[in-house]
Amino acid sequence: MYPSRRSDREQWIKDARYNLFNLKSHQVFIDLLTDSGTGAMSQEQWSAMMSGDESYAGSQSFERLKETITSLTGFPHVLPTHQGRAAENVLFSVMVSEGDVVPGNAHFDTTKGHIEFRKASAFDCTIDAANDTSLYHPFKGNVDIGKMENLFQVYGKERIPMIIVTITCNSTGGQPVSMENLKAVRSFADSYGVPVIFDSARFAENAYFIKIREKGYENHSIREIVKEMFSMADGMTMSSKKDGIVNMGGFIALNSKSLYREATTYNIMFEGYITYGGMSGRDMAALAQGLEEATTFEYLESRIKQVHYLGERLMESGIPVQEPFGGHAIFVDAGKFLPHVPREEYIGQTLALEIYLESGVRAVEIGTLLADRDPETRENRYPRLEMVRLTIPRRVYTRNHMDYVAAALQNIYQRREEITTGYRIRYEAPIMRHFTVELERIS
Ligand code: F0G
Repeated sequence: MYPSRRSDREQWIKDARYNLFNLKSHQVFIDLLTDSGTGAMSQEQWSAMMSGDESYAGSQSFERLKETITSLTGFPHVLPTHQGRAAENVLFSVMVSEGDVVPGNAHFDTTKGHIEFRKASAFDCTIDAANDTSLYHPFKGNVDIGKMENLFQVYGKERIPMIIVTITCNSTGGQPVSMENLKAVRSFADSYGVPVIFDSARFAENAYFIKIREKGYENHSIREIVKEMFSMADGMTMSSKKDGIVNMGGFIALNSKSLYREATTYNIMFEGYITYGGMSGRDMAALAQGLEEATTFEYLESRIKQVHYLGERLMESGIPVQEPFGGHAIFVDAGKFLPHVPREEYIGQTLALEIYLESGVRAVEIGTLLADRDPETRENRYPRLEMVRLTIPRRVYTRNHMDYVAAALQNIYQRREEITTGYRIRYEAPIMRHFTVELERIS
């Protein structure tokens, strides 16, 4: 985490095969790769760690975590897991079978990965407004009920084991889902008798947006909104690395005892015993505290306003970004930013690499590399948007860092006409390729 020279960065990124995940952290000045596990824990969380109970079964740290989750969400059954994708792995082991179809709003890549790994398909039913970055819509994470209805007509409810709603919707820009939409999904799901699962990594940020953008919720507390949101679901998977403000952790929480019982078997096989599931007692203690902090209005307001400050600095210079700004990141519309780079040459990745070379700031591509290949045709899946995500860790950076990031993007924007070529793939994994892909520059 030091400032560096451009000539050093040229060498480092070449050695990293033009994959930003391959950089060493000391080669990065400001790390906006992710907000996952990168937040700063509070003194209360650190002191909670000191009282962690490391009993194998029935630890007090688990009890406190369970009580916190149940009181926040209303779900009585809780299974800890080591992170969000582990929660997906355990729950989908019970719920998803070969040939199934799982509708949702732009599933996160591990969610889609765990569905496709089981030879099932994830269908994106996000509203079309999400694909127009300059169109204002307060809830671009919303699910299009009409698109879902179509899927049910085509595949039949027997092949649809659940509906997954991601709150906030990471893939479209940290965009929230409105309470009205959550209610509509609930009643739609009820009409077919299908369960609704929330992918809840950034549920508190979603609640903040409902409070400030949705009529009728102005005077509700964040906790009231959170409770109402989860009353629309049958269960949740959670990556605690986001709105739990811990470095590692996850969980599943459910209404159904029988589903919980089925999931316990997989939890024990993959994660650990049902009262720790891959987390140490001290980590569960810190998570319980983190969930309390993340659901206060004051915390959410300072966090989200910092993200929006960066967005405003970029917009002032005409840089195209997803509007309105989301909760955890600013998504730059790379397709509009670099109109001369062909999409076959990975526009989003090209911009993310330019940002690193310019400034030492590490962002992440949310575009064709991430979208991967179609599992059947093996053709590139070109998403409707090529984006670069500037993801802000919780409680880590200052306004001064945001100004530096904005200046870096402004510099590139001024010379964007000169950037006309991108990269080609030299190596890629068969699934979730963007983590390990190796690229070379097209000159
Ligand atoms: N769901 C969402 C919406 C996520 O954003 C993530 C992770 C997961 C599930 C998986 O959780 O990482 O704890 O296993 N998102 C990170 C990111 C990696 O950078 O957006 P995990």
